[in-house]
Amino acid sequence: MILVTGGAGFIGSNFVLDWCAGADEPVVNLDKLTYAGNLANLASLRDDPNHVFVQGDIGDVALVRRLLAEHRPRAVVNFAAESHVDRSIHGPEDFIQTNIVGTFHLLEAVRDYWGALPDAEKAAFRFLHVSTDEVYGSLAKDDPAFSETNRYEPNSPYSASKAASDHLVRAYHHTYGLPVLTTNCSNNYGPYHFPEKLIPLCIHNALAGKPLPIYGDGQQIRDWLFVKDHCSAIRRVLDAGRLGEVYNVGGWNEKANLDVVGTLCAILDELSPRADGQSYKTQITFVTDRPGHDRRYAIDASKLERELGWKPAETFETGIRKTVQWYLDNQEWVANVTSGNYREWLGKQYGA
Ligand code: NAD
Ligand code: DAU
Repeated sequence: MILVTGGAGFIGSNFVLDWCAGADEPVVNLDKLTYAGNLANLASLRDDPNHVFVQGDIGDVALVRRLLAEHRPRAVVNFAAESHVDRSIHGPEDFIQTNIVGTFHLLEAVRDYWGALPDAEKAAFRFLHVSTDEVYGSLAKDDPAFSETNRYEPNSPYSASKAASDHLVRAYHHTYGLPVLTTNCSNNYGPYHFPEKLIPLCIHNALAGKPLPIYGDGQQIRDWLFVKDHCSAIRRVLDAGRLGEVYNVGGWNEKANLDVVGTLCAILDELSPRADGQSYKTQITFVTDRPGHDRRYAIDASKLERELGWKPAETFETGIRKTVQWYLDNQEWVANVTSGNYREWLGKQYGA
């Protein structure tokens, strides 16, 4: 069996759902259920004996030790993190606690467990750390895409905390021999994406008749990857990645934010037109930029393709259409996650 952390969040829940659909191997899912964790994402697994959910913190060493001893996983896949850049700007402390201190405690518990395994199990064990392209900093327009050898230049409290966790994971391999793998992925989108991030926020606001907030000039560039492709990349690295190696994961889909939102509006105009016949694009509103906003990310995912044969299955065009359709079909899920705390966040970030 495997232990997944943060498996009630956006990417983690997609990973757990795909895992349970595709493998007959149990998964223990440890998640603190912060505002970003949502058991409704996992509702279809309620009667699946291969899914064991445990509410708890990766920083709770006693709990993690108990889970490792009880379930004896062959791998740990660490998704658990505070993940929203804007929240890290308003309040970095939770990011330091979970992403750095929490990862440290998790590594300590895993190191003890792994160290006591019999030789064959010890050799087969893996700790896969899920990280981000944001650790590499910001690119100029014509710079080559990030490769695994780019130096770390994190610019936000979020990316700095992820960078620190990556360094800890690396150090546990070099110092203690812990069999680690690290993936650094670009921007994901798809089902169960919490509507504080650009794509689900804009779908939600468009349908609610609210402004679609574009930071600054909207020409910041991100590389976009459909979440199911990120999950398949993680499975591939877990199966065949070389120990201690880092793999960049990306969709070869660089887009300016304004273009992404324009595409969303065009798909919504087609699938769920406004009653007044106008385009959702009329709701686009330019707002104050994010402090320290990274201008461009781009991922060179050729190592993963060359060494492990992984390529994304979706283009941006196919993935974004599936995503918009998913939100149209799952308005109840959206309504449930956009209640109390969510509204407080919108007030804090976007004002009136
Ligand atoms: P998310 O915010 O949607 O989910 C994070 C999950 O972790 C939540 O379920 C939350 O309850 C849980 N969690 C938070 N603190 C915890 C703790 N102390 N102990 C246990 N569980 C805790 O995040 P996401 O977008 O699904 O990202 C998952 C991972 O992938 C993160 O490590 C993130 O840095 C990384 N990542 C995300 C993206 C992206 O585009 N979303 C891209 C690359 C990498
Ligand atoms: O690159 C990978 C990262 O992608 C992950 O590590 C993070 O966990 C994930 O949240 C995401 O970070 P971003 O900051 O790129 O995602 P976000 O959706 O917050 O913003 C995407 C872009 O859109 C970014 O340039 C900021 C901009 N934006 C965002 C919001 C929420 C807006 O213009 N308006 C908005 O209201």
